[in-house]
Amino acid sequence: MQELIHLQTDRLILDRPTEKDLDDFVVYMNSCEDFSKNLFNIPFPYKRENAENWLEMCNKGIESGESFRFAIRENEIGKLIGIIGLHLTKEHHKAELGYWLGKDFWGKGYLTETLKAVFQFGFKDLQLNKIYATHFLHNPASGRVMQKAGMEFEGLLKQEYFHHGKFLDVNRYAVLKKDFESIS
Ligand SMILES: CC(C)(COP(=O)(O)OP(=O)(O)OC[C@H]1O[C@@H](n2cnc3c(N)ncnc32)[C@H](O)[C@@H]1OP(=O)(O)O)[C@@H](O)C(=O)NCCC(=O)NCCS
Repeated sequence: MQELIHLQTDRLILDRPTEKDLDDFVVYMNSCEDFSKNLFNIPFPYKRENAENWLEMCNKGIESGESFRFAIRENEIGKLIGIIGLHLTKEHHKAELGYWLGKDFWGKGYLTETLKAVFQFGFKDLQLNKIYATHFLHNPASGRVMQKAGMEFEGLLKQEYFHHGKFLDVNRYAVLKKDFESIS
């Protein structure tokens, strides 16, 4: 399965995160509190040790086939600019998406480009039937990314998560294999 961890888009390469990415990872997570507010398991401040634990989890997920996390890199530079992950529920042939980009790379449409490549990977290589994602209501940019990538709004899940001491609502979006095949 490891050989599958390499995707290419017009501007980006998606491949396996490595130890060499961890210094950049830590800098991005400490650049602002948005990562901690919008994602799970991201303390603020973020320590090197947190990133090392994350990489271990990432490697275990790939080896077991339960989750696939890609380093997002600009084509020519190769430096880590973000992460996108697919977390599988195998019995239902579905996966949940999680993602982030370093702040300097927001607003360039990179995430929308990334999502389309990951859908292709999920539906063709992993033979998934459904890919879904949620975002907190305080993070509408993420919802906009899901819309731009062709995901369909499925609903508002009330008080779905207990995050930073509060029960928070999320919006959920999804794309089905049959719909992706008809638009790709
Ligand atoms: C979410 C995230 C990946 C978006 O990255 P990005 O590079 O800004 O994404 P894009 O440029 O492709 O698109 C963002 C869209 O949201 C819109 N947007 C930005 N801020 C917004 C806001 N406050 N309200 C509504 N829309 C907003 C932008 O205008 C753009 O839409 P447009 O192209 O129609 O103008 C990035 O902000 C990030 O990594 N945030 C921190 C981690 C995170 O939130 N991850 C997602 C958890 S669900």
